[in-house]
Amino acid sequence: MLDSVSLVRPRSGSLHTWSGPLRLCYCEAFGGPPWNEAEQAAGRFVAELEARSAATGFRIVLALDDGQRLLGFSWGASTVGSSEPECWHAVVTEALGPEMAGRGLVGAFELAELGVVPSARNRGVGSLLHDALLAGVVEDRAWLTTRADAAAAVTFYRNRDWQEFQEFRLPGRTTNNLLLTRRLREGSGPSVNWRTLKTSTSSLSPTSPT
Ligand SMILES: CC(C)(COP(=O)(O)OP(=O)(O)OC[C@H]1O[C@@H](n2cnc3c(N)ncnc32)[C@H](O)[C@@H]1OP(=O)(O)O)[C@@H](O)C(=O)NCCC(=O)NCCS
Repeated sequence: MLDSVSLVRPRSGSLHTWSGPLRLCYCEAFGGPPWNEAEQAAGRFVAELEARSAATGFRIVLALDDGQRLLGFSWGASTVGSSEPECWHAVVTEALGPEMAGRGLVGAFELAELGVVPSARNRGVGSLLHDALLAGVVEDRAWLTTRADAAAAVTFYRNRDWQEFQEFRLPGRTTNNLLLTRRLREGSGPSVNWRTLKTSTSSLSPTSPT
């Protein structure tokens, strides 16, 4: 575990102040294999975050080192029953097939993304972000998707009580995704040491990652 990690939950209204650091952090976290995400994807990530920050149950947690450098992030939101075709749960449901339609995804919490920069990995930052994101979630179950070939991610989630539910492939893609689900204890998520969790205020603004 890193000694000097602090967790911050930016308010939706102040999320834009984190755009630059989030973009860089995303590039680092998802820039390597198997993701190999480019700068463009980081731009889409930041735009999606801002668009979804007003969504029901939206939550984001950031991990900072003692120099206020962004080491990682986790975010998610409640899955409401929107039938908008661009909703990720609608895309996943479609890919899973009609017999799975709506099963478990709506009315649950979607863990949308979790990423840690390579230099801070394997020291517990991902676990802190995971637990802090799920702590206090009102839904009694959660789901996420990841690439089936993302070995570190799949092991990480497996070791944190996520169940592999179904492998699927999106049309036109050459790699498989994996749907994982997890029950949240009494709807409250895992316990977390809240002493390390600060709520950001307008006075707390990011510094540029180095
Ligand atoms: C998955 C990820 C968030 C974990 O972050 P982290 O800070 O390293 O997490 P922790 O230090 O708390 O735990 C590391 C875990 O990953 C596992 N792990 C790390 N590298 C691994 C590898 N090459 N193969 C298998 N498992 C691996 C370790 O076993 C460890 O699990 P354990 O504590 O249960 O033993 C990080 O690897 C990452 O950002 N990866 C790229 C982005 C990504 O895949 N995100 C998840 C999909 S949205």
